[in-house]
Amino acid sequence: MSKKTILLTTATGTVGARMVTLLLDQGFHINALVRNTDSEAAQKLKVQGVTLFKGDFNDIPSIEAAAQGIFGVFVNAVSTMINMDEHTHNNNVITTARKAGAKVGVYMSVVSADHKDEFPRYGPEHPSYNYWEAKYRSEKDLQEAGFDHWTIIRPAVFLSNFLPPLGDILFPHLKKEHTLLWPSLKSENLFPLVDPLDIAKFCAAPFWDTDSFSGQSIDLTTEYVTFTDLADKITQITGISVKAEFVTPKAAAARGLPERPNEWEEWKEQTNFKIDMDHVKSFPVKLSSVDEFLEKHKDEFIKYLS
Ligand SMILES: NC(=O)c1ccc[n+]([C@@H]2O[C@H](COP(=O)([O-])OP(=O)(O)OC[C@H]3O[C@@H](n4cnc5c(N)ncnc54)[C@H](OP(=O)(O)O)[C@@H]3O)[C@@H](O)[C@H]2O)c1
Repeated sequence: MSKKTILLTTATGTVGARMVTLLLDQGFHINALVRNTDSEAAQKLKVQGVTLFKGDFNDIPSIEAAAQGIFGVFVNAVSTMINMDEHTHNNNVITTARKAGAKVGVYMSVVSADHKDEFPRYGPEHPSYNYWEAKYRSEKDLQEAGFDHWTIIRPAVFLSNFLPPLGDILFPHLKKEHTLLWPSLKSENLFPLVDPLDIAKFCAAPFWDTDSFSGQSIDLTTEYVTFTDLADKITQITGISVKAEFVTPKAAAARGLPERPNEWEEWKEQTNFKIDMDHVKSFPVKLSSVDEFLEKHKDEFIKYLS
């Protein structure tokens, strides 16, 4: 019997790259849409047996070429924030995959995208309006596209955000001062963190386990931890002293922390939203832990902090 093919978009990215091995192990063939087939990451996919298609989310004929004969599609356009291109890109992939006959669609959204209207000061003037709208509308497109099976995975904050490239932007004081600076005085607040490998497991499994995953929207975290605990864990694993520091949003902004962590903290505080761990654990996926993630990436953390 010929192998079922999955169109894996963002196969060179944080989650997509981790899905490759999982899908290959289950006997799927993978078509990857990449912008540069010569890049190191794309060539690594080729060595793994992935078929590369040069293309772009903007370029529908390139998606059509990669979607021929597919059984399923992984949808995950990157955030554009300044406009709604992210939604257009996801829609291009969803529509093209359905026209090509895809039966299973999996979309990686973001935690609480379905609660966007409850966010403080939410509306077109909100700094992350395009971000939330693009995620929410892409979820709806996936659900309404006519797949036999759809699944939405909504991850919380990637643990890889504490490493470059995103670490440099979101937590600039970690490298500079070995400090996890946080814009809230509530040091006891728990934070939902997720190992990208856990996300990859939840995004890959719906292609072979439709019984468990079809029609499911899953808010996903690996573990809830405080920032103090996270700093302690990084210290223990790297041997480099890292501390957490809790300041007011104004003081954080004055020290150059971007607005994003402040937004997360605000919505978490005001919406009382919490991921249902019983729901997460009801799926046949073995979750990792923050410690396991840090241990796996120990050398990267040491290099980053040194
Ligand atoms: N970081 C977090 O905490 C977090 C939490 C929840 C959700 N998310 C969401 O995660 C998504 C990003 O996923 P990721 O982190 O796995 O990816 P990533 O590591 O940011 O990599 C981006 C991927 O997108 C591909 N790509 C970028 N522009 C493209 C285009 N125009 N056409 C085709 N491919 C394009 C890149 O491929 P090439 O460069 O090889 O072409 C690469 O594979 C974002 O939508 C973000 O909102 C992130």
